[in-house]
This record gives sequence, C-alpha cells and structure tokens, in this order.
Amino acid sequence: MHEVQEGLSLVEEVDALLGEDDGWLPQLGNAAAALFHRLGDINWVGFYLRKGEELLLGPFQGKPACVRIAMGRGVCGTAALKKEILRVSNVHEFPGHIACDTASNSELVIPIMPQGEVVGVLDVDSPLFQRFGVEEERELAAVVQ
Ligand code: SME
Repeated sequence: MHEVQEGLSLVEEVDALLGEDDGWLPQLGNAAAALFHRLGDINWVGFYLRKGEELLLGPFQGKPACVRIAMGRGVCGTAALKKEILRVSNVHEFPGHIACDTASNSELVIPIMPQGEVVGVLDVDSPLFQRFGVEEERELAAVVQ
C-alpha cells in the first residue's frame, strides 16, 4: 500500500506514488488522490486526456464532471490548444468557462506534453477566488513534469 510520507515536497510525494510498472491509469489515479488531499481549498482535481480533437475525463477527485471537452473550449481546452498553463483567478470572467462544479471560482490548468505534443491536462479547481499563485503554478508544473 502507498502511504503518504511526512516531510516530502509535493513533487517527491507524487513521485513516490508512481511505481514504474504500474501503468498510467493507477498512476494518474493516485496522483489525483494525493493532490486532492495535499492541496488546501480545492474542490476538484484531475486529468483530462486527449483523444483526437477532444479531451476526455480521466482519473479525478471531486464531483462528477463533464466527460468531453473540445480542444479550444473552456479553460482546459484552451490551455491544451495553446499549449499554455492557464491560471484563472476568476473563472466567471473567462470566456467559455465550463462550469462542471458550481463551487469553482478559480482554476489552474497545466498541459501535459511529454514530447512536445499535448496528451492531456491537469486541472485544479478551487472555491476561492485567486487561489493559485505563481509558486504553486511552478510546483504543480513540476509535478506534471
Ligand atoms: N472548468 C473546466 C471544465 C472542467 S471542470 O472544471 C472539472 C473548463 O472550463 O475547462
């Protein structure tokens, strides 16, 4: 059984959970669970995985969410299309934001690009406005790496 160890950074903690031979499904499942319990003031964290011109819901923690997001739509689809991290301090001001959980007020989306192409995104939602700062963006980008 994987246990959270005291004193580890977020990157170390997630890294420690990723058994090399486990395959992507258990790895992303445990990564979502670790992030959900470690990050404060969030209501949803998980992965959307690219399938053609869509992002499909992957392992996550939080309320049930929309299953498909077209590339270029919402915060996730925009981050995936532009290959850019998007840190949105107020999702209600983001054109086309997709409200899966009405509790979400700010959001951070980090594209996953192991070989330069987007294979998915990490999406983190918070009920607080301006929940995510530059430091946490860097930390979560390191986790995605
Ligand atoms: N808010 C996202 C949709 C996914 S949910 O937040 C889980 C978006 O606008 O892309």
